[in-house]
Amino acid sequence: MSTVYLNGSYLPIEDACVSVMDRGFLFGDGVYEVIPAYGGKLFRLSHHLDRLQNSLDGIRLANPLSNSAWREVLSEVLEHNRDQTDDNNDQSVYLQVTRGSAPKRDHGFPDKTTPTVFVFSNPIAEPDPASTAQGIAAITLDDIRWQYCNIKAITLLPNVLLRQQATDRNAAETLLIRNGLVIEGSASNVFVIREGEILTPPKGKQMLPGITRDLVLELAEQHALPCHETDISEDTLRQADEIWVTSSTREIAPVTTLDGTAVGDGLPGPVWKSMIELYRRYKDAVRHGTEE
Ligand code: PDD
Repeated sequence: MSTVYLNGSYLPIEDACVSVMDRGFLFGDGVYEVIPAYGGKLFRLSHHLDRLQNSLDGIRLANPLSNSAWREVLSEVLEHNRDQTDDNNDQSVYLQVTRGSAPKRDHGFPDKTTPTVFVFSNPIAEPDPASTAQGIAAITLDDIRWQYCNIKAITLLPNVLLRQQATDRNAAETLLIRNGLVIEGSASNVFVIREGEILTPPKGKQMLPGITRDLVLELAEQHALPCHETDISEDTLRQADEIWVTSSTREIAPVTTLDGTAVGDGLPGPVWKSMIELYRRYKDAVRHGTEE
């Protein structure tokens, strides 16, 4: 039975309850983070906590915990849920902060709110060898989301509906197109490789500034791989030599089929192979305590 953190207590998941008047439940009024931990070491934690602060600022909610308190709570949840039989101890930790509950349902913020703070963790499965060898399928759809996609809001209904259409078509991700440009995936950022150059759309309110995306850019720069943050047209996407999607849970996944058509030669490409190698080395350094 897994242990979660809820509003100051560590308790079995079955015993964790929030009010039906919680604004997260009634309005989706809250934000979240998903943070991987390798060998019990939180991966890029300071980056996730910076983004959490930006999301909280974006919804005008005070941060309920200091960064050191967050570190303590997240580490404690990971420790509680550690599988003693698994030497790797790779888990992903989910945290959610909502505006809490008020006696009356009202769209406007209640005068005084005590935020609801919830954390749980899950084991991270080893990457699926089949999707690593063959890559994944993606589809494209119009981006139907709102204008503050930089906020990691729990209000994910558009993302859910967009992702389900990929699932319905036996694909693993939906790439979102807005005004003729590819923006990101339903739960991932997107990279396109063209003539050896790594391209990714620039940050802005239209997309989530992914922590994995930033790391890929950092690794590319460190290893002198040509890389640019630039608008990517739908045409460029369709002519790409390689497409990748990145996220804390998927790491760097090669997209080898787009809307039923092969990307490049239909297999994970050479630039992806170099980048995943750099990423795995970085992960190992975190696991062994020489990187955050
Ligand atoms: N989602 N864009 C969107 C819309 C996302 O939901 C995510 C991640 C990303 C990638 O961000 P990062 O590299 O920081 O994980 C981009 C998480 C994993 C989720 O919702 O479960």
